[in-house]
Amino acid sequence: MSAPLADMRRLAEMADYIVPFAVRVVGDFKIADEFAEGPRRATDVAAALGLHSGAVERVLRALSVKEIFAEVEPGVFALTPMAEFMRSDHPHSLQGTFPLMPDDVQAWAHTAHSIRTGRTGFEHVHGAEYYDYFVDFPEECARFDRSVQTLHVLMVRTLLPAYDWGSLETLVDVGSGNGAFTAELLARYPNIRATLFDLPHVIGRAREELTKAGVADRAETVGGDFFERVPPGADAYLLKTILHDWDDTRARRIVEVVGRAMAPHSRIVVLEAVPLPGDAYDIGKVMDIKQLVLFGGHARTEEEFAELFAAGGIRLNRVIRTPTLVIVEGVPEGAAEGGRA
Ligand SMILES: C[S@@+](CC[C@H](N)C(=O)[O-])C[C@H]1O[C@@H](n2cnc3c(N)ncnc32)[C@H](O)[C@@H]1O
Repeated sequence: MSAPLADMRRLAEMADYIVPFAVRVVGDFKIADEFAEGPRRATDVAAALGLHSGAVERVLRALSVKEIFAEVEPGVFALTPMAEFMRSDHPHSLQGTFPLMPDDVQAWAHTAHSIRTGRTGFEHVHGAEYYDYFVDFPEECARFDRSVQTLHVLMVRTLLPAYDWGSLETLVDVGSGNGAFTAELLARYPNIRATLFDLPHVIGRAREELTKAGVADRAETVGGDFFERVPPGADAYLLKTILHDWDDTRARRIVEVVGRAMAPHSRIVVLEAVPLPGDAYDIGKVMDIKQLVLFGGHARTEEEFAELFAAGGIRLNRVIRTPTLVIVEGVPEGAAEGGRA
């Protein structure tokens, strides 16, 4: 194919949302699990799952073009290395990572509103901000929570070796979700005690994760609002993928609340994307559009973090890049100078 045609095809394939939707239904219906023992007829899989046989075959065929499945003979499909990650029993399973959430999709349908106004499509269509809206939809809220947590194996693998977690004795996980990351942290470092802090209707799910990891005796769960207060005096305040959800006014408010809770020896440890300048590859730059359309926040550069921290009396101390998220550490202003990694 000539270069311009190849570019046209690439653009057309990237621009269409057929594949993202197809991948999401495959995940939601756990279709990849049906192929764990080897190739199978799409019609048999559809019958086993109570789905429409022609539709399942068409979805699998479409995804085979993208090497997510392979059509090994007409109507018979097999997993590819990519599809293996869609199995729910894979140790690094992404089966629940991309749920098809109709409320999100409705917000994406109003991306034009976001581009015109800088405000979320989510609030435009649902009349409420993301986290407020899901209070009334616990099942969807749990699916969202799970989608965030499914990436935690990858996060744990990259973020645990990159920071001196072992030097901490107490940690508050601010906006912990179901707390899978901190549960793993506690399992790895027996000297740490943690408080998991999230909205009252969310925090209930954290106990289960802590018990599963065998660390429930070193963690407490607290329901509350991080715009009001967080538990005081911990060695570290962990904010994993929190600040990017909020505009500058509200992010500043969270940092002020954390700043007030910090003791002179405390640190704030933010884990999220920090885009690199220029057009270097950085998934954070892509995810930033999700912040624009769904949450109303944005990704921040190192300079923007320094400014944000300053609002809470915190000095940006170190920025550590890992293959997944970036670790941004801050200490109370006036604390001893630290090295930049
Ligand atoms: C993107 S999730 C991140 C969860 C977790 N830190 C992680 O990375 O897996 C954002 C979390 O912030 C919580 N959250 C939102 N508003 C909050 C508030 N006002 N007070 C406390 N937690 C809040 C949500 O319930 C959600 O669990």
